[in-house]
Amino acid sequence: MGTNDSTMESMDIHSASRPDLIRVRHIELDLDVRFDTRVLEGSATLHLHRISGGELVLDTRGLAIHSVDNASSYELGAADPVLGTPLRIQLLPEASSVTSWVRVHYSTSPSASGLQWLDPEQTAGKLQPFLYTQSQAIHARSWIPLQDTPAVRVTFEAEIRVPTGLRAVMGAEATGDRFRMEQPIPSYLIALAVGDLEFRALGARSGVYAEPAAIEAAAHEFADTEAMIGAVEAMYGPYRWGRYDLLVLPPSFPFGGMENPRLTFATPTVLAGDRSLVSLVAHELAHSWSGNLVTNATWSDFWLNEGFTVFVERRILERLYGPARAAMEAVLGRRLLDAEMARLPESDRVLHIDLSGRDPDDACTLVPYEKGALLLRTIEESVGRQRFDAFLRAYFDHFAFQSITTAEFLEYIRRELPNPVPLDEWIFQPGIPAGVAEPHSDAFQRVESGWPTDTSAWSTHEWLHFLRSQKAPDMARLDSEFHFNESGNSEILHQWLLMAVIADYRPAFPKVGTFLKSVGRRKFLKPIYSELVKTPEGQALARSIYAEARAGYHPIAQATIDGIVK
Ligand code: BES
Ligand code: ZN
Repeated sequence: MGTNDSTMESMDIHSASRPDLIRVRHIELDLDVRFDTRVLEGSATLHLHRISGGELVLDTRGLAIHSVDNASSYELGAADPVLGTPLRIQLLPEASSVTSWVRVHYSTSPSASGLQWLDPEQTAGKLQPFLYTQSQAIHARSWIPLQDTPAVRVTFEAEIRVPTGLRAVMGAEATGDRFRMEQPIPSYLIALAVGDLEFRALGARSGVYAEPAAIEAAAHEFADTEAMIGAVEAMYGPYRWGRYDLLVLPPSFPFGGMENPRLTFATPTVLAGDRSLVSLVAHELAHSWSGNLVTNATWSDFWLNEGFTVFVERRILERLYGPARAAMEAVLGRRLLDAEMARLPESDRVLHIDLSGRDPDDACTLVPYEKGALLLRTIEESVGRQRFDAFLRAYFDHFAFQSITTAEFLEYIRRELPNPVPLDEWIFQPGIPAGVAEPHSDAFQRVESGWPTDTSAWSTHEWLHFLRSQKAPDMARLDSEFHFNESGNSEILHQWLLMAVIADYRPAFPKVGTFLKSVGRRKFLKPIYSELVKTPEGQALARSIYAEARAGYHPIAQATIDGIVK
């Protein structure tokens, strides 16, 4: 049994709420989107299930609370820099039944951590403003007062009023001018975007939203989406969310993708033109099973979301594009994991991570992703693909629409799939245990065999592996032979510019500045800024670039880069 309805739940240290006492079940949102003041204003009506006591504690951050209906009193507690401000509501004493409701009238702060308000100049079309939310990990509380823990699932409906000429979309079903989410989801998956958006169908139950200037490229890039949905269903059971659409955001989006249910949010930096970066779609789609259906109960269990998702992502790639492609992606991930682990303290090299006193945003490394996927590959190898796939399918069914802890996963797998993999060592110890199923790519072995003679058939993955395999890169030769500064592929360009900074290869520096000022994806920004600040000269360059670029970054990316540059 997952924690969704259990009273024996593990406490989530990142929420002040007490879902063991009173649990929010359903939310009605009624919001005005005000671009002039950069504020969402309106109300959230919370429908409650009362287990014991009369106090409802909600998470908020930077919210102005105007009033609370159907309550006897309310007060805001002390603000915590990571967790925000608890809102304590005393329910009416006469409401003795197990169900009740309260309505919170509120407005958001213009600097809400979960909202990015974009000026028209920051969009592809340059004419209309744009707004989007990013609730994971603990930013939903900056735009909705709620129990902001992945252990609580809610259904919701919403009425969102936007200026004429703009369109609102949510990770929910649109019916007329309202939105409805009928499947219970954790708060970190509640999502809204507003902009000049166009829609293009991709398949019977899939499509893409983007600004008109990007819609053509997006529809071309994501043409395989419907086939991907079918591939996961064949392996792990039905897609349970109705539609699967994608939304291409402006370039300041701080992540590659975000698996908002029914509507994945995606960075435009995956629009490479040749579908070479669609592992991102496979990844976010896979979350429809691992993460959105079976959800980590706390942020310490994040590897249950991401490790399973990377495993499923690579299985999708294998089915659609063949084992050689999946192997290349696995080897790239394996290499990056080793590099990252070498930089991390031992306590961050475990799968079940201690986050006491930490912001989950700062603890997001490749470990839950790649070490998690490596564990599942290793189990798969030890029991055989057929048995492991049957196990996974049963796991998704068994825990569907529940939030579970690592302990619950362990209990389940020990019962259902006894296997020789040292699970405790994998999950609680810092290294990669002996017996790991190491990925291998023949294509990469050829790439490593010396300076290339014919690269005409190389994939993006081979280029990335080639660049990352250069021990003492001859930057001038790489530049003159391969012209990486002109690459239209964001991953290749990023890898090249990162190497240019490390090697102090000045001819590429103007491009470093352009890149950092035009993209807000944290995975691209963080390594380059981190390398720049290692020398006094680089630090000066980082400061001057960041002074210009900062206003265009999302609050989450600003927080990360502030920590590096300041
Ligand atoms: N859910 C994550 C993004 C995320 C993680 C947001 C933690 C906030 C906190 C998403 O599924 C993800 O993993 N995105 C990756 C891309 C993916 C292809 C590995 C990213 O954004 O880089
Ligand atoms: Zn993910």
